[in-house]
Amino acid sequence: MSERKTAFITGINGQDGSYLTELLLNKGYTVVGLVRRLSVPESQTSRLEEAKVYPHKNLHLEYGDLTDQSSLFRILNRYKPDEIYNLGAQSHVRVSFDAPQFTTDVIAMGTLNLLEAMREICPDARMYQAGSSEMFGNSIDADGFQRETTPMHPVSPYGCAKLYAHNLCQTYRNSYGMFISNGILFNHESSRRGGNFVTNKIVKGALKIAEGKESTLALGNLEATRDWGHSKDYVEAMWLILQHTHPDDFVCSTGKSHSVGDVVKYVFGRLDLCPDQHIIIDPKYFRPQELDDLKGDSTKLRAALGWKPSYSFETLLEEMIQHGKI
Ligand code: NAP
Ligand code: GDD
Repeated sequence: MSERKTAFITGINGQDGSYLTELLLNKGYTVVGLVRRLSVPESQTSRLEEAKVYPHKNLHLEYGDLTDQSSLFRILNRYKPDEIYNLGAQSHVRVSFDAPQFTTDVIAMGTLNLLEAMREICPDARMYQAGSSEMFGNSIDADGFQRETTPMHPVSPYGCAKLYAHNLCQTYRNSYGMFISNGILFNHESSRRGGNFVTNKIVKGALKIAEGKESTLALGNLEATRDWGHSKDYVEAMWLILQHTHPDDFVCSTGKSHSVGDVVKYVFGRLDLCPDQHIIIDPKYFRPQELDDLKGDSTKLRAALGWKPSYSFETLLEEMIQHGKI
């Protein structure tokens, strides 16, 4: 790279934000991240510290919030980024039923705030929007896959807010000729995944049972299926999407799906535990409306940008188990 590029990341201390920061710093970028003020300041940078990228001379953190447009104007004005990655979100689907307005404010209005700031200050920058397979709801093509052309009928406040942001990004792209691309990412996990998402909850719960610290693990729906990949692979896709010749929308997925019960079976099996002796079904973890099955066709991304996942379902869970043992 001849001239150092600057990237602005919202949600920088999230799971994906931490992997993306590693990737961009390694590629020689200056990275600017939006962090929210939390009452435990150590939590503001916990994942970045775990990734060993904070502190770093080319990483700058700025206080702000997607719902505070003045903070976005201030930061964009100061750094004039070449690339913007909008990862900030209340990203838990179940919680979006409990806090629907907050979820919508951050994801839908927050994206609008960012787009307007970008249009005003750095309209020539490139922006990546973190869209989700949750936007499809229970809509599936006849061959059992979801792809860019599959109709989107979300079944959660989170999915509705993400679909608003997705449509808004397309609208700004088409109306103003801005380089704005939507990712439609299927579930992706890692050892840095929040402990209340199902994969990490199962890994951590099973390890506690194996160590004799707990005897049961309460879960909700074990029948739902998801297409699970690794966050490290998916942030690579985000970067590739912004290096493309033109802005577009891309599904990112492994193309293989497993049930929540399969995750339980694999993780408990690896620790020589029998799930039937430990798993309790607690309706508190059911959602008012469930998204039953996700399996993504990422042919477009693979063909246009040469992306492919390096982790399988098994190697992903294996890494999470090994990390949890440390
Ligand atoms: P995550 O770990 O929950 O991280 C979300 C980040 O957003 C956190 O750093 C959080 O900050 C920040 N945030 C929350 N509210 C904010 C606000 N009002 N203003 C600014 N930042 C705010 O999520 P992730 O797994 O990294 O996912 C990254 C993005 O991809 C999210 O937009 C998510 O919805 C989307 N996505 C994720 C997946 C997946 O399977 N992981 C799949 C599809 C799409 P705090 O730490 O301060 O809360
Ligand atoms: N969280 C959780 N906790 N989920 C459970 C539990 C439990 O105790 N028991 C069963 N599940 C089921 C959920 O009902 C869902 O069908 C599945 O496990 C996956 O739940 P999550 O891990 O919470 O992920 P998600 O699919 O709802 O949402 C994730 O993926 C989306 C992409 O499809 C999040 O990362 C979203 O931000 C992302 O957009």
